[in-house]
Formats: sequence, structure tokens, C-alpha cells
Amino acid sequence: MNVKEIISTLSIDEKLSLLIGKDTWNTVGIEEKGVPSICVSDGPHGLRKVCTDENGQTFTKEAVCFPTASAVSATWNTELAKKVGQAIGEECAANDVDIILGPGTNIKRTPLCGRNFEYFSEDPVLAGELSAAYIEGVQSTGIGTSLKHFATNNQEYDRLHVSTEVDIRTLREIYLKPFEIAVKKAKPTTVMCAYNRLNGIYCSENKFLLNDILREEWGFDGFVVSDWGSVHDRVKSLKASLELQMPYDEKAFDALKRAYENGAITDEEIDSAVERLLNIVFRLYNNRNHRVKEYNLDAHHQLAKEVALEAVTLLKNEGNILPIKKEAVKSIAVIGRFAKEPIIQGGGSAHVNAVKTDNAFDRIMELAGSDIEIKYNDLCTSWPNTSGINNIGEALNFANHSDMAIVFVGSPINDESEGYDRTSITLPSQIEDAILKIAAKNPNTVVVIQAGSAIDMSSWIDKVKGVVFAWFTGQAGGSAVAEILFGLSNPSGKIAETFPLNIEDTPSYVTYPGNGYASWYAEGLMVGYRYYDTYRKEVLFPFGHGLSYTTFEYKDLSIAPDTASEEDEITVKLKIKNTGNMQGKETVQLYVRDTDCKVLRPDKELKAFCKVDLKPGEEKEVEFKLDKSAFSYFNTSLNDWHVESGKFEILVGASSRDIRLKGNVYIQSNFDYS
Ligand code: BGC
Repeated sequence: MNVKEIISTLSIDEKLSLLIGKDTWNTVGIEEKGVPSICVSDGPHGLRKVCTDENGQTFTKEAVCFPTASAVSATWNTELAKKVGQAIGEECAANDVDIILGPGTNIKRTPLCGRNFEYFSEDPVLAGELSAAYIEGVQSTGIGTSLKHFATNNQEYDRLHVSTEVDIRTLREIYLKPFEIAVKKAKPTTVMCAYNRLNGIYCSENKFLLNDILREEWGFDGFVVSDWGSVHDRVKSLKASLELQMPYDEKAFDALKRAYENGAITDEEIDSAVERLLNIVFRLYNNRNHRVKEYNLDAHHQLAKEVALEAVTLLKNEGNILPIKKEAVKSIAVIGRFAKEPIIQGGGSAHVNAVKTDNAFDRIMELAGSDIEIKYNDLCTSWPNTSGINNIGEALNFANHSDMAIVFVGSPINDESEGYDRTSITLPSQIEDAILKIAAKNPNTVVVIQAGSAIDMSSWIDKVKGVVFAWFTGQAGGSAVAEILFGLSNPSGKIAETFPLNIEDTPSYVTYPGNGYASWYAEGLMVGYRYYDTYRKEVLFPFGHGLSYTTFEYKDLSIAPDTASEEDEITVKLKIKNTGNMQGKETVQLYVRDTDCKVLRPDKELKAFCKVDLKPGEEKEVEFKLDKSAFSYFNTSLNDWHVESGKFEILVGASSRDIRLKGNVYIQSNFDYS
């Protein structure tokens, strides 16, 4: 029997029951009619399967904790994002999970958002491409995904009710774009709606969002699942095209039944929702026959490390203080408890029960061997409360008597989590103070920061020689950091979000978090580097910044054709050469600037990127293909994407503020306002 035939055998009660979860993690199955139940679990940076033991106690199964999304995005490596997805898919298969609840692709509007560690970027193209790659990886193993949180869940403060007030152009170009890219490219099996309202209407009831755009315009053919407890009116949400309400809610069935009986919802509406749901349920259930139920734990740990090695971002390296030079450095003061007990992820529903956790200290000891003396001080004895520093005397003594000091700091435990936002983007003042004191004792001080989102370092950064941003790099992040410090691996991470000088400089500063009812996205398109670069604002580190132990030369830019119509594909080529003496990877970023525009456009926008691996002296050609989406903006009068005729600059570089090559292309529009 096909899905339609099966539906024709179901009673109305059976059909309605399918539209609400069976419990917290499973869909309803109707065995006697051949309808299976499938199981969903969080994600996204590892499997979080919640189980119940024989005493009725819930526990989370162990799984490999991969670097979180903000770390994955710092790799700018879609192949790695795909491999992570695939590995997580394998762990789902082995644990009888059919759908992983991720990836999260919301735009980082403010560095305060508590869930930024779960999101990729402030840039929609980067977030969209990485999400698509992750989805392709997961779904290649026969497991489903849930692209979330659709849409504009950009703050945790008041997330259950806040109305995000966003103009249509901004919505399309910034906040919906990563979803659009991922849906069109990778076809996720499900999309999870956000808790919040969008322009006054709950996302769970938002027909414009869930039906008109997602389904009708983008061709989404999976089902929409509610965020857990985000449905306020089951009838309205069904009409908006939300097929599955999660978790089980006894009132929802009665509401649907009443609405059916009084004619507010029709058989046709119910049947088509059930069909959309069951199409996926059957697809995933049937996939169970082909799934591989075993995976290699060590290989997954190694993959977590490979990603961490590419995510760790060298932000500052004055006088090439790094990598550590064994011929010159005979003693190192390693300071800070994070060296031994790293924070590998943020909190909330994404929290993975990691199989094991590497720490930087053990690997530093191995790498230092007998050549370098390591003196360790944990800085704070009242761990995990990092504000309780009471060991500073010994730390300063060690710093004073060592060739180098490496200070491990980070976001305080529980500072970055689902459910609430950060209140500050600086490190705790006691930690900042400790960094300053240590740097005063040792001129060769390097700070390693573990955090999921941007940190304001302005009060101390000038006093230290090196800064390594270690993100929340999962269970293998500790050893990855040590290997980068010692130069076993060349850092290639680049920040996927601007690091501002301070929170007051951020474009949403004056409107975030709203008045408790609404949050006005008054900065419009000017999110992240779009704002800083358009308004020529000084930043701590620009979008796309990240250093290497080697150097790269960019040359020979060519653009063909250089005069084209809006349907033409433009080919951009350039060469990149490793001009240093260490093998390294460089992320080449392509930005487009509309110079002749009549409408407001940001100074430049990322349209393509790729990561290139080069041996010393090696040169490679990089090629990008640009289509209309690289030049268009969302024209609200036409209610469509529109290209204006004129000159566009192609800017290729190592960050949004480090443009190495420039060229022009002239595009002829199909429609120009006279
Ligand atoms: C989160 C989702 C998560 C769900 C299930 C919600 O609170 O917002 O991201 O997938 O819970 O745990």
C-alpha cells in the first residue's frame, strides 16, 4: 500500500493523533494499520538521546561531542561540516534515532544571544552553505534532519513570546536566506519552527513563513515540526502547515477534534498534512533496513579533532610568538583551570554527554617532553565559578620565572546556554585582571579563550602577544589546541562573526532585547560586518579574520564574462600561493559590492568562499561560479529578487577587511526602473 492508500484506511481520530507526538521523542505509530513510529533526538553537534532506565530515571546516552556550530563555521570547510553530519548520522543509526534535531542556522544578530554557539554565522551564505553540507552528511546515512529554528530566533531573552519585528527585505536577505540555501540545496526532511512571533504572528502559526515561503516558494517537501511546546493554537498551526506538534499535548487532540467537528478544518486539510508527515515517516522507517548500525568511536573522535584543528583561530600573533619554539622556550607557565577542564560546548538541549574529553594540559606535557619545564597553576580553586580567583600569587610567580605564559580562560560555566542570553561579552573582570597581571610579569603571554561567541578583549589585548580562540571545540578540542600551540598543526580557523570592540558598538545594541513584547530589528540589513564595513566602524577583529603560521599570496584575478546579462554565469578565477615555509590552509573569501545601486546596499556581501590546502611554495587555482543571487537584492515592490544594471566589484580576500584582489563585472538587468 502506498501512503495515500494507508491514509484511506485511517479513522479521523487516528489521523489527528498522528499530528501530535506520542511522547517527548517519538511520533505516533498505528501498528495495526502499518504506520510506524519514528524517534527524534537533539543535536546538533552530537547525539543527545534521552533514555529512561529500569528505575524510571532519565539519562543521556554517551555520544561523541563534536565542535559546536560556531566552531564548525570557523573552519569555513563544507567538506568537514558534511563529515560531521555523516558521523552524527551514523551514531543516530546505531542508537535507533531517525531524525537529529539540527542544524541550527539562525543568524547571529547580537553576540549576546545565549545560543550563538549553536549557530553558524552572522552571514547568511556561510550559515546556509554549512547547514546544507551538514544536512547532506546526515541524510547520506539514511537519517533525517530538522533545520531550525524557523525563523528569527536570534535571542533567547523572551524567546517564547517575543515578536521579532523585521522588514521584508531584511527578512529575505538576512534571516531567511540561510534557510533558503539549505532547503533548496540539501532538502532537509523536516524544518523546526521557532518559538517566537515574527511580525506579530507566532512562527508556529505563520502561514506566510511555513506555507507560502517554505513550501510553495522553496519547494520544501518534508514536514514542519514545532519547537518543543511552541504551539499555542493547534488549529491555526495546522492551517499554517505545521504537521507535527511536539511533544505530546493532550489538549491538542481535543482542539483538532472540535475544529473538525464544527467544520473549521476539513478532511482535505487533515489528509494532506498526514500525507506530508507520513511520506517522511515511511521514508525514514524504510531507511532503517539499509542503515549501518555500527560506527567507529575512535574515528569519530579523530574527526572531532580534525574539525577542532581547523576551527581553532589564531587572532593575534605578535612577533610570531607562536608556534612555541623549543630552541628558545625552556619553561612555560600554564595558567588556568580550562587547560585541564576545558569547556567543550554550551548548555541546554544541545548538551551532549561526551564519551571522553581531551585536555590541553596533558597534550602540552607530552609535546613539551623533557625539553620544556611546565609549571601549572589553576588560577581559581572555586571552579567552576571562575570569578573565585584566589591562586593568583603562585600564578604570577610562575609567569615571572618562565620563558612564556599561556593563560587558559573562557566563558564562565553556564554563561552560554539555551534559555537565556549573556549579559556581557567581556570575560569576568577577575579574569581580565589576572590576564593583565600575568602579562605584566611575562612579556611572552599568550591567551587561549574557550567560548562560543565573540569576546570583547579590548581592555587587555594590547598587553599580550598572542590570542588563540579555541571556541567550544568538542571533546577533542583540548589536544587540538595544544598541537596548534606547538606548531604540529597550522591554524586555519577564521571567525564567522565580527568581534566588536565592545557591546555598545554592535548594530542591535539600542534595540536588543526589545520591550518584553517586541524586538525591533531596526538595523535592518546592517547585521555584523555589513554594518561595520558600511559605516567604517573600527572592530576588534573583522569578519573572516584568522592568522596562519604561513603566508599566502593572492594573484591573477580573472572575471569572465566581464559584461553579462543577469542570467549569465560569471566565472571568477584566481591563484593562491603558499609563500611561507609551512603547509597551511587558507580560506579565500569572495565579496560583491554593488557600486551603481539606487537602493541601500551593504558595503560588501560574502557570496562565495573556499578553503585551499597548500604545501610550502605550492600554488593552486581557485574558481568560483556566480549566478544572479550574487548580485540581486530583494525588491519589495516587485516582491522578488532583482538585479540593477551597473558595475559590481568582485573583492577577493582573506577577511572582509583584508581584500587582496579587485575586479569589475557589468551586469545588464532584465528590468530597470527608468
Ligand atoms: C529547543 C530545540 C530542541 C528542542 C528539543 C527546544 O527547547 O529550542 O532546539 O531541539 O527543545 O529538545
